[in-house]
Amino acid sequence: MKNKSFIIKGDIIYSDTPEKLLAVKDGYLICKDGISGGVYESLEEIPEIYRDCDLIDYSGKLVIPGLTDLHIHAPQYAYRGIWTDMELIDWLNFHTFPEESRYKDSDYAKRAYEIFVNDIKKTSTTRFCAFSTIHVEATEILMDMVEESGLKAYIGKVNMDRNSPDTLRESTGESYRNTLSWLEDTGKKGYKNVLPILTPRFIPSCTDELMTRLGEIIKDTGIALQSHLSENKGEIEWVGELCPDARFYGDAYDRFNCFGGEGNKTVMAHCVWSSDEEIGLMKKNGVFVAHSPSSNSNIASGIAPVRKFMEAGLNLGLATDVAGGTTLSVMRIMTDAIQVSKLYWRLVDDTKKPLTFPEAFYLATEGGGAFFGKAGSFREGFELDAVVLSEDNIPTVLSDLSLCERLERYVYISGEMPVEHKFVAGEMLF
Ligand code: GUN
Ligand code: FE
Repeated sequence: MKNKSFIIKGDIIYSDTPEKLLAVKDGYLICKDGISGGVYESLEEIPEIYRDCDLIDYSGKLVIPGLTDLHIHAPQYAYRGIWTDMELIDWLNFHTFPEESRYKDSDYAKRAYEIFVNDIKKTSTTRFCAFSTIHVEATEILMDMVEESGLKAYIGKVNMDRNSPDTLRESTGESYRNTLSWLEDTGKKGYKNVLPILTPRFIPSCTDELMTRLGEIIKDTGIALQSHLSENKGEIEWVGELCPDARFYGDAYDRFNCFGGEGNKTVMAHCVWSSDEEIGLMKKNGVFVAHSPSSNSNIASGIAPVRKFMEAGLNLGLATDVAGGTTLSVMRIMTDAIQVSKLYWRLVDDTKKPLTFPEAFYLATEGGGAFFGKAGSFREGFELDAVVLSEDNIPTVLSDLSLCERLERYVYISGEMPVEHKFVAGEMLF
């Protein structure tokens, strides 16, 4: 649909506050030039100026904001669901690095990324932040495909100049120059859905000299950055050895201007073992946390203290972290986040209350959406991303469920069920 002004009718749910859902049965959601004009309970309430817009009738279906996956590795989608009986560093060395090395072959990358983009398009995700690999050509192939898909994404060519095999390592100069030429190339392409993001893999993969240069690029251009932080105990110990002057892991990024701060957008995956000091710096610098419970469980990293992040007022969203995580479904990640928060409360710290369903929903929508600006809500002024969910495949004798109960059930049991319709910034993808 090219006209980006219309009205959607359906059973509409979005977050009123982080703790509370707002549900409107047979409601009307206004889209004006790709931006939400708000939700109304009846046709009569709709402001005059929108009355002539086309009405798309999804009566009886749930309509929710599109979800954001704040951290995913596109090249790892090929091996999701296998090789998870290892901890992080072994998993990287034995499986991830050899597999990512194959993306030097652009034909392989094309085949793999076609499957990835085709599959993520069908999910409830409308926006995501993705790592590719160190390879510029393969990264641009991925960016072109995502641009074409209509999904919105930050996509990063990965930087690695140490502690990896020859097949997946650049020299410092190469890594820097390749990053600059990739930025120049992608700048010329005039993408409207895709943005580049600096992507130093993590401190063990990047020398001080490379980090210094990346920090300078941020200073010059204001480009966003994504990386990994305090995921695994062995990794953190190693960072301590590699950066003896850093006070903590996050400080090892911060000293190179790679950890948010005024005008610098940064998202860090995991933060399972972040100290209070590290959390304090993330708060001060506005760093986003990409909470990845599926990955943290699979490769036995631990349970991130998500309630602590919320109490500290951090920017926070959810992430699949495929292939540490096994699923593309951010809905499944919502339920994983709730479940691991219950274990944390029961087994680790009984002052940190488990996540509620509305809180998990908020993190998956507005929480992560905030990395993209005004996204993840149907409140007036937000970019209009919406997914329409069909419950036809959930037969039941229950007939008196509320909208919120229907949504909770859908999120818990839908698995990787495709959504019925998807809109991104007012564009109907299907
Ligand atoms: N840390 C550095 N690289 C990776 C990766 O590919 N996945 C995860 N989960 N952690 C990492
Ligand atoms: Fe990751």
